[in-house]
Amino acid sequence: MKRLLFQLDTDSYASVFDTVVGFDGGADHVIGHGGCTPENVRPLVEGAIFTRAPKEKKNTALFIGGSDMSAGEALFQAVQKVFFADFRVSVMLDSNGSNTTAAAGVAKLLASGAVSGKQAVVLAGTGPVGRRAAVMLNREGASVTLTSRDLGRARQACRDIKERFGVDIHPVQARSHDDRAAALEGAQIVFAAGKAGVELLKEEHWKDNRSIEMMADANATPPLGIGGADMMDRGKDRHGKILWGAIGFGSLKLSLHRACIARLFESNNLLLDAEQIFALAKSMA
Ligand SMILES: NC(=O)c1ccc[n+]([C@@H]2O[C@H](COP(=O)([O-])OP(=O)(O)OC[C@H]3O[C@@H](n4cnc5c(N)ncnc54)[C@H](OP(=O)(O)O)[C@@H]3O)[C@@H](O)[C@H]2O)c1
Repeated sequence: MKRLLFQLDTDSYASVFDTVVGFDGGADHVIGHGGCTPENVRPLVEGAIFTRAPKEKKNTALFIGGSDMSAGEALFQAVQKVFFADFRVSVMLDSNGSNTTAAAGVAKLLASGAVSGKQAVVLAGTGPVGRRAAVMLNREGASVTLTSRDLGRARQACRDIKERFGVDIHPVQARSHDDRAAALEGAQIVFAAGKAGVELLKEEHWKDNRSIEMMADANATPPLGIGGADMMDRGKDRHGKILWGAIGFGSLKLSLHRACIARLFESNNLLLDAEQIFALAKSMA
């Protein structure tokens, strides 16, 4: 029985990155569908749940991706609404690598020092990775601020997080490097989650900050999100702060992503979202 992974992507094209990791995680075939929405997904899900005998259903799994976290979350819900009784297959939600990237970065921060009771800032946190990193830091006992260039977008992200996870994240507008440096005052933990190739801070904005203890940067495309850091940093001490670069924690992200895919094929009723993926990341880190 071939292991089939169906990508249900909310973007026009299914993510090539997710296709490759699907194969590397153990799928025999990865079939990508783009443009998936709650309105059009039902026939795709029915094709997955009605085609194999109960004991064989674990060989079919679904992966939800795309660049829009809210669209991914809505699709994840819509897929589950099609399931009934044992007519179901395992599903993973990881829009733009949101859960696996945030979980790997936060797990590496946790392995480097205490997070509980600290103040954390997720810079440019309105994207998929930032939203999940904010939740994971909060769940570890940090008080979390999320920045955006636009206060409305920051507030919307925090409202969406509250609705899904029931936790309070503090929205802050930070348009410039100086604004973002100001947002770090008094914080011990920084998670930079900006768009690829966008610098959020220069070295001068953080090197003399006395409160910061640990920083992680998810951006692996130069210029990096945190100037003066290196994408290869693996818990490196810079100016008395512990730095994790995107490739530094990227190997855990990839192993985690592959491990999640492998788990999808162990049963036909697994749902992998932030909670489950973060728990696995902590055990792997
Ligand atoms: N290391 C890994 O293994 C790995 C895996 C996946 C992704 N990533 C990286 O993780 C990062 C976050 O991914 P994502 O998909 O969540 O990011 P994203 O949605 O592309 O961008 C995140 C936020 O960056 C802000 N932004 C965009 N342009 C900006 C600019 N010119 N100046 C300042 N802020 C700007 C936006 O916030 P506002 O518009 O609200 O300001 C946006 O919501 C990316 O760099 C991505 O490449 C790393």
